[in-house]
Amino acid sequence: MAKKIIIGADHAGFQMKEQVKECLAKLRVPFDDYGTYSDESTDYPLIAQKVARDVAKNKTRGILICGTGIGMCISANKVKGVRAALAYDAYTSKASREHNDANVLCLGGRTTELRAAQAIVKIWLATQASTESRHKRRVKEISTIEEFC
Ligand code: RB5
Repeated sequence: MAKKIIIGADHAGFQMKEQVKECLAKLRVPFDDYGTYSDESTDYPLIAQKVARDVAKNKTRGILICGTGIGMCISANKVKGVRAALAYDAYTSKASREHNDANVLCLGGRTTELRAAQAIVKIWLATQASTESRHKRRVKEISTIEEFC
């Protein structure tokens, strides 16, 4: 069975998270929800940290949503092994997988329409990392940065 997708959001991404979960259920993609569980104010780095650590540890993929997607993206990328990408349309979603082998997708709950977000998620889940040597080399170079920081 495919590994579970880990999903998380702050209050500004809560509503979109619930919609994305429906989308995952329809696609029969298993997932774990790491919160937040209401639209009460919460701190995005705490959720990002939980999701990103699990993605790195279990070599799975995650989805993080805050108001812009930016705070989640910055926070998740602090965790070694995580390549979080903020996608806002079909092109950035596809490219984040093909070119960057992104293992965390970040979305902006206040900046992206819900329907667009569902399309972004579908594309992201269906797209594999490119096997072309230049892309593989560049992803490896990202890991090298982690070794020296
Ligand atoms: C919360 O108001 C907002 O700052 C947060 O969701 C996010 O957009 C941060 O990057």
